[in-house]
Amino acid sequence: MVKLLLVFVAYAIALAAALARAGYRSRGAQPAGPAGARPSRLLIVGATGGTGRQLVAQALERGHQVTALARDPAGLHISHPRLTVVQGDVLDAGAVDRAVQGQEAVLCALGHNKFFYPTRILSEGTRNIVRAMEAHGARRFVCETSLGIGDSAGRMGLYYTFFVIPLILPFYFWDKTRQERIVAASALDWIIVRPGALTNGRARGAVRHGRSVGNLLWTVRVPRADVAAFMLDQLASETYRCAAPGVSS
Ligand SMILES: NC(=O)c1ccc[n+]([C@@H]2O[C@H](COP(=O)([O-])OP(=O)(O)OC[C@H]3O[C@@H](n4cnc5c(N)ncnc54)[C@H](OP(=O)(O)O)[C@@H]3O)[C@@H](O)[C@H]2O)c1
Repeated sequence: MVKLLLVFVAYAIALAAALARAGYRSRGAQPAGPAGARPSRLLIVGATGGTGRQLVAQALERGHQVTALARDPAGLHISHPRLTVVQGDVLDAGAVDRAVQGQEAVLCALGHNKFFYPTRILSEGTRNIVRAMEAHGARRFVCETSLGIGDSAGRMGLYYTFFVIPLILPFYFWDKTRQERIVAASALDWIIVRPGALTNGRARGAVRHGRSVGNLLWTVRVPRADVAAFMLDQLASETYRCAAPGVSS
């Protein structure tokens, strides 16, 4: 029994080390330029999800012209004169290309629950977005991944590092490392946003953000509403251009 436990701990540590190596790792601070122009026309991918619905609602409140890509538009439950809902799967490169046309920026809150076998939904979907953005000249890409990857490995705390990620999410997190590398290798003005554990709690109105967010021991949490606000703030900010800040309450 003790032997089995030691083997499992070794596997969890090896996995965390692999996620650290495979995800995006900062190569020093990016030069922060002046704040860019605030893009008006946005595409939101993953719009029917927890973060995605917050993104849509808050983007409309902020006055953006919003296009939402959804496999099932009925799942969005928001209607607004400045909202266009486009039916499509992120794995369909043609559908993504059409949705990206005419957009100035894209926000991605893609996720799924096919945890227990290898998938490439996050990475292939993100590759389609990046290709379409590069083809159509949309520059700003804000992509939600997670603490626990690249230079934030281990920062989801012990519960995630030694239980949730190795037992439930190894394939999912591995695909997230590919997703991060695709974003970081792009020619876009990208920001990878790495939240702690997401909650559906009320927005607190402020988040901790940056490379030191997260904790090796306990799990930091953050409401999806605050993550969405932080992601929208990144549209015209240069602070984290080509960087991967963690986000927590
Ligand atoms: N849960 C956490 O504690 C936690 C912590 C850190 C980071 N994150 C990450 O944060 C991100 C957002 O999480 P969330 O829980 O807010 O989102 P979510 O509720 O899981 O929503 C995921 C969204 O992705 C969409 N989607 C999935 N496959 C698609 C496809 N093939 N084509 C188009 N859309 C597709 C879903 O659409 P459908 O409605 O059609 O399924 C849904 O809109 C995820 O990447 C997640 O891993 C989560």
